[in-house]
Amino acid sequence: MFKWKDDFSVNIEKINEQHKELFKMGTELYNLVSAKDGVDRYDEIMTVIHRLAEYTIEHFTYEEELMKIHGYKDFDNHKKQHDVFVAKIQSIKADDVDVKQRKIGMDLIVFIANWIENHILVTDMKYKNYLNSKGVY
Ligand SMILES: [Fe+2]
Ligand SMILES: [Fe+2]
Repeated sequence: MFKWKDDFSVNIEKINEQHKELFKMGTELYNLVSAKDGVDRYDEIMTVIHRLAEYTIEHFTYEEELMKIHGYKDFDNHKKQHDVFVAKIQSIKADDVDVKQRKIGMDLIVFIANWIENHILVTDMKYKNYLNSKGVY
C-alpha cells in the first residue's frame, strides 16, 4: 500500500512529485492507524487527514489548471472525480470515526489508498500523452 512505482509516472515532473507526497502522507496515516501499542493517536490522525485534504486540493487545482490551459477534452469528467474525492475526505468526521474509541477505521485508509492509486493509474494516466504532446513534462 502507498508504494510508489514507475507505473505511476505521468511523465510530468511536478505532478509526479505531488503524487509521491500524497503517497507519503498516506503511509504516515497507515502507520498511525495500524500502530497497535494502545496509544491514542486520534488527534495526530486527524491532523494528517487535514493535511492530506489540503494537499490534495492543492494538487488537484494544479492538475486542473494544466488541463484547462492546454484544452484537455476530458477536463469536466476528471474534475468531477476530484470533487467527489475532496467531498469524501472533508466529510470524515464523527461518521467515520468510532467516537467512543476515538479510532479511525483501517477501511477508510484502504479507501483513500485505493482511490489515489486507481485515480493516478486510470484517470491521470489519460492526460499523460496529451500533456506531453503539448510540451508539458
Ligand atoms: Fe493526480
Ligand atoms: Fe487527477
